[in-house]
Amino acid sequence: MCGIIGYVGEENAVPIIVEGLKKLEYRGYDSAGVAVCGQNGFFDVIKQKGRLTALEARLSENPIAGNMGIGHTRWATHGEPSDTNSHPHVGSQNKIAVVHNGIIENYRQLKERLEQKGIAFASQTDSEVIAQLAEYYYSGDLLDTVIKVANALEGSYALGIMCLDEPDMLVAVKKDNPLIIGVSGHGQFIASDVPAVLKHTNKVCYLNDKEIAVLTKGGARFFNMDREPLSKTPETVTWDIDSAEKGGFEHFMLKEIMEQPKVLRDTIQSVHSGGNKEVIESLEAARFDKLVITACGSAYNAGVVAKYVFERLCRLSVEVELASEFRYKDAIISDKTLVILVSQSGETADTIAAMREAKAKGAFTLGIVNVVGSTIAKEAEVCLFTAAGPEIAVATTKVFSAQLVLLYILAVRFAAALGKMTEEAERGLSAEIAALPGKAEEILSRIDSIQKYASTCIGYKSIFFIGRNIDYAIALEGSLKLKEISYIHSEAYAGGELKHGPISLVEEEDTLVVALSNCGRLRGKIMSNVEQVVSRGAKVLLIGSCQDAGQSGIISYIGLPEVPELFSPSLSVIVMQLFSYYVAANKGLDIDKPRNLAKSVTVE
Ligand code: F6R
Repeated sequence: MCGIIGYVGEENAVPIIVEGLKKLEYRGYDSAGVAVCGQNGFFDVIKQKGRLTALEARLSENPIAGNMGIGHTRWATHGEPSDTNSHPHVGSQNKIAVVHNGIIENYRQLKERLEQKGIAFASQTDSEVIAQLAEYYYSGDLLDTVIKVANALEGSYALGIMCLDEPDMLVAVKKDNPLIIGVSGHGQFIASDVPAVLKHTNKVCYLNDKEIAVLTKGGARFFNMDREPLSKTPETVTWDIDSAEKGGFEHFMLKEIMEQPKVLRDTIQSVHSGGNKEVIESLEAARFDKLVITACGSAYNAGVVAKYVFERLCRLSVEVELASEFRYKDAIISDKTLVILVSQSGETADTIAAMREAKAKGAFTLGIVNVVGSTIAKEAEVCLFTAAGPEIAVATTKVFSAQLVLLYILAVRFAAALGKMTEEAERGLSAEIAALPGKAEEILSRIDSIQKYASTCIGYKSIFFIGRNIDYAIALEGSLKLKEISYIHSEAYAGGELKHGPISLVEEEDTLVVALSNCGRLRGKIMSNVEQVVSRGAKVLLIGSCQDAGQSGIISYIGLPEVPELFSPSLSVIVMQLFSYYVAANKGLDIDKPRNLAKSVTVE
């Protein structure tokens, strides 16, 4: 995910763009850049690796100015963070400049075609192909060119495009990534998000997919892909600047929970092209006799879920290890072991150490990482990237979901490659995975009832999460989420373990038990556990496919859309995230930055 902004008007575009980029930095911050149609008839472009402050320092040494410009803050997907890979990208004729947010899935094919025509590329990015293609198509009409370019691109994009031959016109188009148009008395704006323009205007138009905006100093016009004019009336934004940075959500965590259907979709899509596809296809399942997943915190919990999925589908032995333990235990691994490192940041010190230990022992390492250019992404032999964009809330939500879905996909591919599954079964499970984003949307549409229920739960002294089999695995994550943001004591137990000790913790009135019931053959067993805690005075929230629930007011029930039990964690976790979020929100806590925690744990 990146942030883009553009301005055309009476004022100097550069300070407007830099201020706007500050409001978009949450979308990515590994490099930034700005380009203006300079007074000398050329583009003036300044691009800088690192945070926006580094770009500001460059701009103060080399001031540039112009009445039209575009800017970008990057979260690298293709090509490492570097000055060259930063946006804006300018074609090799120095005629067209582009900023892009999104991923161009067919960039390799387009690049090859253009290279065959003698066009030289400067960067490793997918985005440069847009500038080069636009110059290739350009014959005096930028709007026409943008239509041709948009028709040639596959993937997602929000684009801001300038052409030196039409120096008063800024063109924008989008598909599957956000883009707003701001209109003001002194000029017009494009931006990835409203906060970037709020200082100048609260009048915005929202572009729909495959709609084009043509902005000049005097106003904005809109067109469809057939070049027919569209009419749009600007809407008035009522947010204040602070809340708007979270896209209108009170906390980043809620925003990120709500983004999950898109994140799931993007991550599932990511294995059909580009780097993720290549990595999955390159892994030879038969080469490994053992699989180890090692990680910390929520990423470890994703590994526990994956253990159940891999073992059930692949009949392959899987160990899940906390990275802080794995690194010192003299693990029994060999060159026949696949070690999977799961990490949002790719910078967690214990997970990095576990990776280095595994490599030193000859194991093959696979990273599952969200941050391109991070240590694990660089050092693991191969790496799969979660397509979740930057995650700002300390408590992970959307990246956890993206990790799960990549692990499911890997398990299905391994099972098929190992001959443990027919092609038909593989197709069936792949279709079930593809259906998860829609089911996630269904759960999110029931947010009000989860919020209402959570508001009744802030007084509990302890909240336990129980489940069996894969429900136990995801109960670990439900419990972690709750305790880290609500500060309510919480533990997760396998249902069968209750009677071996934990049940003594159940206290009348003070205890809530969240029970998960998604495992068909174990439904009777988990319901017996529910009876056991209910008869000792606990209240119960039951989550899952268990229509026979609710025999008394003590048991509340949240049903999930129908889903194969192995993939049910992707749905039950969303309910538990929302539950935890609303418990913490009702307690008035600092949800995005819980006490004592940090987003990236780079120390041991
Ligand atoms: C919990 C959470 C942490 C991280 C853990 C690992 O919500 O976010 O438990 O999962 O610190 O971090 P990464 O994934 O960056 O290695």
